[in-house]
Amino acid sequence: MKTISVLAGVVAAALLTVAMLVTSGWVRPPLETLQNGYRGTAMAQVHTRKGVAETREANVAPAAADPAEPGDELAGKTYENVQVLKDVTVNEFNRLMVSMTEWVSPQQGCTYCHNTENMADDSLYQKKVARRMLQMTQHINSTWKEKHVGGTGVTCFTCHRGQPVPANIWFTDPGPTRPGGFIARNNGQNLAAPSVGLSSLPYDTLTAYLADKDVDNNAIRVNATTALPTTKGKPIQDAEKTYGLMIHMSEALGVNCTYCHNTRAISNWSQSTPQRTTAWHGIRMVRDLNGNYLEPLLSTFPPNRLGALGDVPKVNCTTCHNGESKPLNGAHLVEAYPELTKPTETVSAAPPAVPTEAPASPPAPAPTPQ
Ligand code: HEC
Ligand code: HEC
Ligand code: HEC
Ligand code: HEC
Repeated sequence: MKTISVLAGVVAAALLTVAMLVTSGWVRPPLETLQNGYRGTAMAQVHTRKGVAETREANVAPAAADPAEPGDELAGKTYENVQVLKDVTVNEFNRLMVSMTEWVSPQQGCTYCHNTENMADDSLYQKKVARRMLQMTQHINSTWKEKHVGGTGVTCFTCHRGQPVPANIWFTDPGPTRPGGFIARNNGQNLAAPSVGLSSLPYDTLTAYLADKDVDNNAIRVNATTALPTTKGKPIQDAEKTYGLMIHMSEALGVNCTYCHNTRAISNWSQSTPQRTTAWHGIRMVRDLNGNYLEPLLSTFPPNRLGALGDVPKVNCTTCHNGESKPLNGAHLVEAYPELTKPTETVSAAPPAVPTEAPASPPAPAPTPQ
């Protein structure tokens, strides 16, 4: 009896193994490889075809609304409380309101931002935030056009995608509440954090590098620039945080390190791709958006929108990119909304925007150690 049950067990295990091998889909999926660097440098992007198709499908831009009828009436003259879109015609203004509703609050409609008894009323925090968002969008499409967003530009949809709260936002991560004891200090790492691709790198690297608009331009550094140390150098923690950020950037864009770096000389700018320069400015742009647009809204957001430490929701590379190197498959949606591409003056109700000029070019290439 015992032999029979052992035999039955073995047969069942063998059959299950075969079934597992046959049905688990362990076949090499068809790959798409795109060489993006000089030949022989192994600078290539490898994706599965299915993955590429899925990402494309998840990033389709909505069609632009039909053009507005021409008119001379200006919104600033016609309506009572228009502070940003003053010089836009009434027809264009209403077209934008309809598109904004489609981009940000399609379920809730106009009432998400408006007290419909009185459209001029500013009592809802959503309207105050949206007014600042209008200025932020104009600022991105003008100040950051050359250096980052190019012809693709951004509309509210780039981040919101039909939801009042964008899917990819972040807060300062206070980490778990840990008991004291032998391993009480974890240096903010050794947890499988999604922001760093579930690696054990520091889980709050974004606060160090993307939240603060005044962070040192040379903060994100690992490699020495001289063969022998000339100063005390940087702590290993900086290297860990740098790698954490690089993983975030790669995941946000759906690329690997070689999209920007020639990995034989990671820090060397002259061997890097042009995309690395765009990314360098992107880092500064994100700091600008978080520091000058979102942080000043701290007292406007209700407490339930704030993070565990009472900080504002913030933008990172994924907020716009969502897994693609050019958001929304590179669609130039903003071209149909010229009012979102011109900066307007600062409204009195909002804190003044500090114009942060990004340096004209990235730091000079570091000499390659011989
Ligand atoms: C995502 C937020 C949001 C949504 C949704 C929205 N609006 Fe607005 N609306 C605003 C903001 C912000 C202003 C003020 C713009 C400014 O100061 O330049 C405004 C102003 C207005 C005004 C001018 C009111 C006045 O007298 O000052 C009208 C009219 C208006 N919206 C109509 C609409 C209509 C109609 C809808 C729905 C189709 C709508 N809005 C949806 C944010 C929104
Ligand atoms: C660069 C990305 C980005 C762009 C572009 C953008 N937003 Fe936002 N928006 C955010 C983030 C981040 C928040 C904070 C999320 C939250 O409220 O919890 C936010 C919040 C809001 C809120 C408040 C939602 C709530 O319930 O808390 C409104 C309303 C809004 N945005 C409207 C707009 C409008 C209108 C536009 C276009 C003119 C726009 N946004 C463009 C990133 C963006
Ligand atoms: C989208 C472009 C991009 C991708 C992808 C990217 N990086 Fe970077 N990397 C940069 C930029 C830009 C800097 C410089 C940042 C600065 O100076 O503010 C940098 C800096 C670095 C540094 C510091 C170099 C120094 O001077 O000490 C290291 C190390 C690094 N990256 C490693 C990686 C690794 C590993 C990956 C893949 C996981 C990766 N990067 C993916 C753009 C990128
Ligand atoms: C406000 C939205 C927004 C944010 C936030 C953002 N980007 Fe971009 N990025 C864009 C747009 C739009 C383009 C397309 C530019 C074009 O068409 O030339 C782009 C292009 C790029 C490119 C060039 C891609 C290519 O194939 O040429 C790189 C690299 C890049 N971004 C890196 C980053 C990194 C890294 C971050 C975070 C530090 C970031 N971006 C944050 C909107 C954004």
